[in-house]
Amino acid sequence: MNKERTISLSKNLHIPLVGFGTYLISNDDAAQAVSNAIESGYRHVDTAEAYRNEQGVGMGIQSGLGKTGLSRDQLFITTKLWPGNAQWGDTPKTFDTTITSLNASLGRLQLEYVDLYLIHATFDPGQRLEQWKGLVELKRQGKARAIGVSNFSEQHIEELRSAGLPLPAANQIELHPWSQKPQLIRYLRKNGIVPIAYSSLVPLSTWRAAKGQDSAKTEQMQKDSQDADSPFKKMAQKYGVSEAQVLLRWGVQNGYPVLPKSMNSARLKENIDLFSFSIDEEDMATIEKMDRGDGVAWAFGDPTRNA
Ligand SMILES: NC(=O)c1ccc[n+]([C@@H]2O[C@H](COP(=O)([O-])OP(=O)(O)OC[C@H]3O[C@@H](n4cnc5c(N)ncnc54)[C@H](OP(=O)(O)O)[C@@H]3O)[C@@H](O)[C@H]2O)c1
Repeated sequence: MNKERTISLSKNLHIPLVGFGTYLISNDDAAQAVSNAIESGYRHVDTAEAYRNEQGVGMGIQSGLGKTGLSRDQLFITTKLWPGNAQWGDTPKTFDTTITSLNASLGRLQLEYVDLYLIHATFDPGQRLEQWKGLVELKRQGKARAIGVSNFSEQHIEELRSAGLPLPAANQIELHPWSQKPQLIRYLRKNGIVPIAYSSLVPLSTWRAAKGQDSAKTEQMQKDSQDADSPFKKMAQKYGVSEAQVLLRWGVQNGYPVLPKSMNSARLKENIDLFSFSIDEEDMATIEKMDRGDGVAWAFGDPTRNA
């Protein structure tokens, strides 16, 4: 893998700074989408048990490897344990069902191992430690090269430390200029945990502003994403790139791997083209002042909406 476009996740393991996100890509569409992404230069794919598309993603990986001549070890694949949420009528995963879950994901993905396995969310305080112990065991077995968490707060991670367990290698969280989480980022950095950014395109994505995604912020988001004076529009013009590239570049420039999802082949290519420009210090300082708090994709720390 090209070292310039990766960062170190753990000993001997580098994570590419741009990954292909697959949330809301159906199982039927995933094979073509992932294969196209690999052909377009993506070397990192993010899926999850909860996305119900691992089988399609697995087919896309096989097809992408065939078309590019790459080998499995040149790709970085992440999937996530659905921890189960009793409030939604799911049975929370135990140590044993955590092990079974990754084995089932590997079967659907047609892989021997994933590069990163994450607990998707925090839901069940009673089983969280057992699930994490399951991930530690799966890493020991070589089925996950690295293990981490997603949507965890500082308190959730401290719970693992207090139990004498290893800390996660990464925490995948909603991160973009409107949700910068400076305190959590400081904590993650101090503890050597890599922040991975999801929903980087929120400040311009209209689907996150759709009714039901976050009713309280919907109106403001729609207004702001269409604002002709938006700083992102001005920066896009200044650097000769798109607004999406500015948002994604902000992530990688901060050292956060980003996971843009697109079903459109032009946008797919645009979203990985982030290394021919950089955002200058003045604009980075402008963006730093745009933080609006915890984000829109989940109620952070209490994820009860979507995955
Ligand atoms: N761990 C978690 O809880 C969690 C939560 C959310 C997401 N994620 C991961 O992070 C990935 C990315 O997050 P996301 O799917 O929420 O959203 P995103 O990648 O921030 O945004 C996707 C939306 O933006 C559009 N888009 C993509 N590229 C664009 C461009 N260049 N210009 C304009 N619009 C563009 C897409 O439409 P088109 O397809 O039409 O281009 C889609 O509507 C997910 O797919 C998933 O893998 C994880």
